[in-house]
Amino acid sequence: MSQYEFIKAALGQPHQKVPIWIMRQAGRYMAEFRELREKVSFMEICHSPELIADVTRQPIDKFGFDAAIMFSDILLPLEPLGFKINYENGINLTPPIRHPDDVARLKKIDPASDMDFVLAGIRETKRRLNDTVPLIGFCGSPFTMACYLVEGGSSWNFTEIKKFIYNHPLAARHLMEQLAEISGRYLALQIQNGVDAVQIFDSWGGILSPQYYQQFSLPYLKTVLALCRSEKIPRIVYLNNARPYLHLLAELDCEVAGIDWRTDLIEAADILDGKTLQGNLDPHLLLGPADTLREETLSILETMADRHGFIFNLGHGINPETPEANVRLLVDTVQSWARPDNSLPAPDSAF
Ligand code: CP3
Repeated sequence: MSQYEFIKAALGQPHQKVPIWIMRQAGRYMAEFRELREKVSFMEICHSPELIADVTRQPIDKFGFDAAIMFSDILLPLEPLGFKINYENGINLTPPIRHPDDVARLKKIDPASDMDFVLAGIRETKRRLNDTVPLIGFCGSPFTMACYLVEGGSSWNFTEIKKFIYNHPLAARHLMEQLAEISGRYLALQIQNGVDAVQIFDSWGGILSPQYYQQFSLPYLKTVLALCRSEKIPRIVYLNNARPYLHLLAELDCEVAGIDWRTDLIEAADILDGKTLQGNLDPHLLLGPADTLREETLSILETMADRHGFIFNLGHGINPETPEANVRLLVDTVQSWARPDNSLPAPDSAF
């Protein structure tokens, strides 16, 4: 059995504490990160194995999270595919995909060589973490990456990706198939290079109707999950706005489902029976008063008290305006919370 509480929780094995990490835990809300960013660009950090390791460790050293997530971005594999990514003023990807011919022109990529800087970053981070906490690798879901490719950046209403899917379903499928193949191979390589768990971010799947989600996100998540299946390495699928799709997520061959704050934990636990849940505090509670943050955090812990398979996280990435003091309060509240003694059956009571 793994020595890490996070991995035990992810695999649904008995463990003492509810582990906590948060999405975007390394980033602009941290003074150390902002200080580094005055000297180097986001892209420079992402391309330097040394800086990847430094930044990945920042939130571990400062707040004592129970897992690290490698410092990178879901959009980076889109560069070798033939796109320029600019992070300076919001996200800008050029040239966007708008026509089926644009899909046919995508470059072939080999994640082993094209993403070698990320893999070197993983090896360096593992060396420096020295088995203190597990390291999570990640990628974007094919549908979420397609959103950025077709919109050409972030979007409010997702008009372009919807136009593309509804007008050119075959080209959309072809695009998603290629992205799934790349992401699956990329995660398998991250595992070979040392990550202890992987997360697939389906941040924008929730803009689709359940019927379209079933056709344009789910099959490609299945391809990615099959390509990175590996004994003892938990696979997390995070879906923002998950509630209408819980019965579809239940079909996935993954160990953990990450959900957002609009999704009821009890309902999700019932529908996703057998999977560990991860979530689901509204990140904006970290911008409110300490008492409310503590109460809402305890409420989640108590709701999930009788489940072995629970990992505390936010329902989406942390807001860059978040005061560090509130992150400290959140981590302390979760890590000092103890399950009521009688809330879990004794480990051998099932036999
Ligand atoms: O600590 C961690 O969680 C690891 C690093 C990480 C980043 N992005 C760093 C980052 C992870 C896991 C991501 C995932 C990611 N990136 C997602 C999925 C999660 C989600 O939020 O839904 C998405 C959609 C992206 C795309 C992306 N990259 C966005 C929306 C942004 C923010 C744009 C902005 O400027 O506000 C980025 C840039 C980015 N990725 C930053 C960081 C720390 C900020 C870059 C900077 O320093 O300026």
